[in-house]
Amino acid sequence: MDGINLKNISYTYPGAAHPVFSGLNLQIPRNKWTTMIGQNGSGKSTIARLIDGLLVPATGSITVNGLPVVEDKLPELHRRLGIVFQNPDNQFVGATVADDIAFGLENHQVPHELMQKRIDAALAKVGMTDLADAEPTILSGGQKQRVAIAGILALEPEIIILDEATSMLDPEGRQVILELIDNLRNQQDLTIISITHDPVEMELADQIIVVDQHGIADQGPAPDILKQTDLLRQLGVGIPTGQHLHDLLEAAGVTLPDRYFTTNEMVEWLCQKLS
Ligand SMILES: Nc1ncnc2c1ncn2[C@@H]1O[C@H](COP(=O)(O)OP(=O)(O)O)[C@@H](O)[C@H]1O
Ligand SMILES: [Mg+2]
Repeated sequence: MDGINLKNISYTYPGAAHPVFSGLNLQIPRNKWTTMIGQNGSGKSTIARLIDGLLVPATGSITVNGLPVVEDKLPELHRRLGIVFQNPDNQFVGATVADDIAFGLENHQVPHELMQKRIDAALAKVGMTDLADAEPTILSGGQKQRVAIAGILALEPEIIILDEATSMLDPEGRQVILELIDNLRNQQDLTIISITHDPVEMELADQIIVVDQHGIADQGPAPDILKQTDLLRQLGVGIPTGQHLHDLLEAAGVTLPDRYFTTNEMVEWLCQKLS
């Protein structure tokens, strides 16, 4: 079956008193951008690690585009799926940018004659061609995250998971990464799962999954989740600027169309009203 399917998953960390999940069911569609939001400690990273096979559930089964997540399939899974983590400094293994990507390709036994082409293509996609021979120490956090993404792209993946991958970056670095991911999904088939508290990132998603201490609290098209301002506040995640303005205008007695406005749509709507 297409997409990512978790069926009846239970997981308890070794030594922990309580399970993070018991009987969790979740479907994540293929070739869409899905964002997972929820309070710290709700289990978002645990879901990512279960999908990646880093953690083994006590009950249930997981498939990724039909591939069962079991030990002897992990090399194949990791060719198709890559994770970018929060801390840019913990992900660099090569002595240079190009080496770092080559390392991943070697790990996956990509034939030598294909490697340079794959490295060049991946670096071009993340806008790092000029820094191919740079050492990691001279790179910004955002550039390091771009290299991490390039390392995954070089494997021609089906799925990229971003686990708070932009949370340690400055606003500019964050914007570059989000534009990059947005461009990628428009250019190729790619399933994107991003875990975030950032309203800009949430607004880019096709659908949003809300995780809480009981499991999946809600799942739906991004506008359906993002218009629930009180829920977003409860979760401690950001509120998209358009939705924030929507609430303020409504409270001030302005009549607004009954639909979700992205931040850009709200700016356009306001400009029209004011002109
Ligand atoms: N390595 C670990 N060992 C024990 N408990 C953990 C470990 N990692 C996470 N947990 C616990 O599991 C729960 C879910 O954590 P996590 O998936 O990291 O949440 P999130 O990513 O949503 O912040 C939390 O209660 C957390 O304390
Ligand atoms: Mg986490």
